Amino acid sequence: MRKVTADEIARLLEWYEGHKRTLPWRDEVSPYRTWVSEIMLQQTRVEAAKGYFLRWMERFPTIRSLAEASEEEVLKAWEGLGYYSRARNLYKAARIVAERGGALPKEKKELEKLPGIGTYTAGAILSIAFGVTEPAVDGNVLRVVSRLTAEPFDLTKNETRAGVADMLRPLMPEGKTSEFTQALFEIGALICLPNALPRCELCPLAATCDAHRLGKELDYPPRAVKPDKRRESLTVFVLECAGKYAIRKRPEEGLLAGLWELPNERGSLPAEEVSARYTGEVTPLPDATHVFTHVVWEMKGYLVRLPAPPSDPALLFVTPEEIRERYSLPSAFSAYKKHCK
Ligand code: ADE
Repeated sequence: MRKVTADEIARLLEWYEGHKRTLPWRDEVSPYRTWVSEIMLQQTRVEAAKGYFLRWMERFPTIRSLAEASEEEVLKAWEGLGYYSRARNLYKAARIVAERGGALPKEKKELEKLPGIGTYTAGAILSIAFGVTEPAVDGNVLRVVSRLTAEPFDLTKNETRAGVADMLRPLMPEGKTSEFTQALFEIGALICLPNALPRCELCPLAATCDAHRLGKELDYPPRAVKPDKRRESLTVFVLECAGKYAIRKRPEEGLLAGLWELPNERGSLPAEEVSARYTGEVTPLPDATHVFTHVVWEMKGYLVRLPAPPSDPALLFVTPEEIRERYSLPSAFSAYKKHCK
């Protein structure tokens, strides 16, 4: 395959200087801020991540302050972002780093030993915050390079990313590693769009882009075929008793591990069965769905007004205010959480 050229990188960097967005993690750069923003951006869009990032930095301004918080507080600050293992790993890693003096290591191998930091995140932290010539290859970067070189990358292979990183590393200009990494993100986000037609007429690389010359921008990179998601039906209970609502902890393993949830069970229970189970007034709530990476939940919900709390020791009855401020209920339950009021 052909390589990306130094001239292409020069045009890309010049374009970036004139077009970069103002983003909260760019106004002030530190290894911690880069780390947090990159973890947030792994599965969250830039627009959605901005507010979370600013609130996070107010609440946990340093690695040490994050390490000293409780896991419950950390998960609460993450509430709504999804993929909670990201927050758990940030917290675990912060505690490890705090114990060792409070600064993130500057070596790739050491960074990659921390929970939640893989090759991509290590590359982003090193290039953006430490000025080290180590590329960060994410889906945007793969798409831009695949189109530029008209190389049909196999996105399912780890070697693809490693190969692109090896190709890019010698092209990273000393003293401009941060701009290099972020210019690639930026052109992927603003110009070389994934699904909509790319905005080639505005692209500084169009003159030498092989996919553009072939008129086949959308063929690169080839789409990986995804298996269908499993569908699970679930019945969710909003159990109210004396102005409080029941929540419980999920199991420590599996989907949404260890987070709080509204009581629920597998299957789609009819209202009669719910009435047979609880003494109290049963009101059906609208159906809801939530799409996870590998599963879709198809939910039926009921509001049950109980005259007395049930004897189930797993249930914790809390006020709507406590749900808002203290316990993080994943977004999967948001259609039913809003009835806790
Ligand atoms: N996507 C991943 N990291 C990013 C960053 N630092 N800026 C903009 N978009 C990104």
